[in-house]
Amino acid sequence: MSLRADIALAVDRPGPTIHPNVYGHFAEHLGRCIDEGIWVGESSSIPNVRGIRSDVVRALRDLHIPVLRWPGGCFADEYHWKDGIGPREQRPKRINSHWGGVVENNHFGTHELMDLCEQIGAKPYICGNVGSGSVQEMMEWVEYITSDADSGMANLRRQNGRAEPWKLPYFGVGNESWGCGGNMRPEYYADNYRRYATFVKSFAGNRIERVACGANGDDYRWTEVLMSAAARQMNGLSLHFYTLPTGGWSRKGSATQFGEDLWHSTFAQTLRMEELIARHGAIMDAHDPEKRIGLFVDEWGTWYEVEPGHNPGFLYQQNTLRDALVAGINLNIFNRHADRVTMANIAQTVNVLQAMILTEREKMLLTPSYHVFEMYKVHQGATLVPLELTSPSYELGAKSIPSLHASASRDGAGRLHLSIVNLEPDREATVRITPGFATVTGRVLTAERMNAHNTFEQIDAVRPASLPGIAHDPASVSLVVPSISVVVLEMTG
Ligand code: AHR
Repeated sequence: MSLRADIALAVDRPGPTIHPNVYGHFAEHLGRCIDEGIWVGESSSIPNVRGIRSDVVRALRDLHIPVLRWPGGCFADEYHWKDGIGPREQRPKRINSHWGGVVENNHFGTHELMDLCEQIGAKPYICGNVGSGSVQEMMEWVEYITSDADSGMANLRRQNGRAEPWKLPYFGVGNESWGCGGNMRPEYYADNYRRYATFVKSFAGNRIERVACGANGDDYRWTEVLMSAAARQMNGLSLHFYTLPTGGWSRKGSATQFGEDLWHSTFAQTLRMEELIARHGAIMDAHDPEKRIGLFVDEWGTWYEVEPGHNPGFLYQQNTLRDALVAGINLNIFNRHADRVTMANIAQTVNVLQAMILTEREKMLLTPSYHVFEMYKVHQGATLVPLELTSPSYELGAKSIPSLHASASRDGAGRLHLSIVNLEPDREATVRITPGFATVTGRVLTAERMNAHNTFEQIDAVRPASLPGIAHDPASVSLVVPSISVVVLEMTG
């Protein structure tokens, strides 16, 4: 069974630049994301550079990660940065009360984060502690990292082995302050934001963008209050939205065991991102018509029940083609809202939620979501090309979602990239694209089953391949997009 679709590319109506940061990531002190997933320590038998595992660094470098958010998440509002500097054996141990109640040894702190960012080529985005930290503590952290003065904090950094200040372009003032970050009401947080943000300074040689904690999903009032009270003090406002297959937290469903009903409802849920961005964006437009303030979707992705046998507080889940399609859909949405969405950070990089990488001690695998980020990296910094997609809907019972989802951009070398997601589990799509191009190549990520995934026994069960059978002439391009797939085309001429 095949469906027919048309994609008209508005090549003469270029849109805004897609900010590379939309392809950002997030790594928290949660479960095995930092510990084992990234940090193994210098004495580990797992190959590492200064304690950071080399296989993971290699894989992350290939993604061209533009920005990495750290240390949380909920962890950020109980993190006291001075615990994570100085000789490691002297760093205090703390209980990670949000995530499994395990003991955090603070071996991975500010210096290690900056080293990781340098190793993978990403910019750091640090989230500060408003919930249980002081204004002074936040102010001193920024001084410690970015000041070149002969001052207390800069000298402490030098004493700990780092002479030069680092660049710190983004600083979050609290995380989920409406929830785990302090259960604040928006009016109270807005005042706190203004106060804390005042002391997050741009020291000479560093320009820091201050990011306010934004809404939980569809809490539009939060955005209205923050924009009314604190727009002048912010460069970014965050938004958190997780894709729950059932739409509810009490029964989220398994990462790998699902039927077509949950396949369909997962996409229906994830497609809500479009409306959330449009509506939060409209509130921001009313206060910030020049779009000076970025909407930073700094936590997004799928959230399932943890894998059986794993610590429930560690949020470890497998990652299937369903996750790959969720990634493709959301990245298409962010591309299409490039005028307002200038950063997004998928949760999380390794071993937690919709991870790029899973590890089991010395073993490592790349997930289907990783492959989508790798295929889509061509959109980073490119110019959005608007498109019109005409296709039948994907119906299941009374519920209807689109069959296909797409976005396009043109890069600095003039290459046009079109990414297409086929949500249908058993209908391939015959797609006609206008205009035509002289050369066209394509890559596809697909498999037979909706829940296909990589395991430590079979690490390459799901991997990109080149897409055969693309026909093209000066008027149009035609191809078949397999069911359950993500395709990225490169077109020139
Ligand atoms: O990503 C996991 C958690 O989800 C984060 O710590 C928190 O900000 C959100 O609720």
